Amino acid sequence: MSGVNKNIVILISGGGSNMAAIVEAARARQWRARYGARVVAVISNKAAASGLAWAGMQGLATAVVDHAGFASREAFDAALMSEIDRHDPALVVLAGFMRILTPGFVQHYEGRLVNIHPSLLPAFTGLKTHQRAIDMGCRFAGATVHRVTAELDHGEILEQAVVPVLTGDTADTLAARVLAQEHVIYPRALERLLAAG
Ligand code: GAR
Repeated sequence: MSGVNKNIVILISGGGSNMAAIVEAARARQWRARYGARVVAVISNKAAASGLAWAGMQGLATAVVDHAGFASREAFDAALMSEIDRHDPALVVLAGFMRILTPGFVQHYEGRLVNIHPSLLPAFTGLKTHQRAIDMGCRFAGATVHRVTAELDHGEILEQAVVPVLTGDTADTLAARVLAQEHVIYPRALERLLAAG
């Protein structure tokens, strides 16, 4: 990562609790003063994403690029890229962004694109990770921050957190336990990248 101003663009699709954890960590840990880094924009593929309102209240630029308005993944990704690139990002952070990205998109942001996935990768790529972990009888579950490659939920692992799977857990109770840890490891992973770079 180079440049004096390290702009961070966050992509969401829903509640944006990871986004909020990152914005709050950036503020509390003074990323701007220490690394020249700041979250500049939050972009969603869904207008209804509740995280957008929170981001707007923080004074961040927000935008919606609705995937439903595009005929192909390539066309959507091209529009998304041009919206992201207005902010000249050093990091593009996927935080509950529920779209599969094209190889062209991934290549464009190579070295700058990170994701959080609610499982201990390489186990349970894809969806319904918590229910699948419960169904398999896993004693532990967790979350992974990783670099994004063209292959879904692959790429270098940057941080992981482990939580126990408890007797009687449902997908929702397990998800809540994992999400609390996501809020710890995502800011930590980003800060480590900023410090390194
Ligand atoms: C998080 O649990 C994140 O790991 C997951 O969506 C949730 C978003 O929550 N991401 C994926 O499943 C990506 N495949 P948030 O909007 O409150 O941050």
